[in-house]
Amino acid sequence: MTDMVLPSETNPLNNLFGGELLARMDRAASIAARRHSRRITVTASVNHVAFNRAVPLGSVVTVEAAVSRAFKTSMEVYIDVWMEDRFSGERTKANEAIYTFVAVDETGKPTEVPQLSPETDLEKERFAGALRRKQLSLVLAGKMKPDDATELKALFMGS
Ligand SMILES: CC(C)(COP(=O)(O)OP(=O)(O)OC[C@H]1O[C@@H](n2cnc3c(N)ncnc32)[C@H](O)[C@@H]1OP(=O)(O)O)[C@@H](O)C(=O)NCCC(=O)NCCS
Repeated sequence: MTDMVLPSETNPLNNLFGGELLARMDRAASIAARRHSRRITVTASVNHVAFNRAVPLGSVVTVEAAVSRAFKTSMEVYIDVWMEDRFSGERTKANEAIYTFVAVDETGKPTEVPQLSPETDLEKERFAGALRRKQLSLVLAGKMKPDDATELKALFMGS
């Protein structure tokens, strides 16, 4: 999804307002989740957002979103944000984020999604880390006991 940064979307430093970027990322991630599942999808959680670089007024911003792993009814979506220099056209990575979407039926009930096979090294790396990020998100939301977060515990305990 490519768009420009307009004056109404900036903060007092004339950089893109964080909430505006969150909305753009949510939209792009929602499209990726819908394309993968061919279902209605809702944002279940925003697992990680890093605002590493300010995005100045007038920048051309590209938000790339892809499902990194599909679970039973939920999908992790990885988002990379790029900005394009107005003069040189050079693209630099500005931000990244990870959202979780859930596919639902017309009544809002979670429904199963197709599985996904990663192909590139980056896809494989993101796929491999997705389960521990899901467990962390569930623990923080109070939906999983830390003791049940096996993949997450393994990260800290090296097992
Ligand atoms: C997202 C929602 C459908 C989940 O409903 P629920 O009753 O918790 O359903 P379940 O417990 O069956 O969870 C469904 C899936 O979501 C995952 N999930 C739920 N909360 C999660 C969280 N905080 N982080 C990561 N995954 C989560 C579950 O692990 C499960 O995944 P799986 O089936 O792939 O294993 C429900 O909470 C909802 O409709 N929320 C509002 C969504 C919305 O309106 N978003 C826009 C915000 S304005």
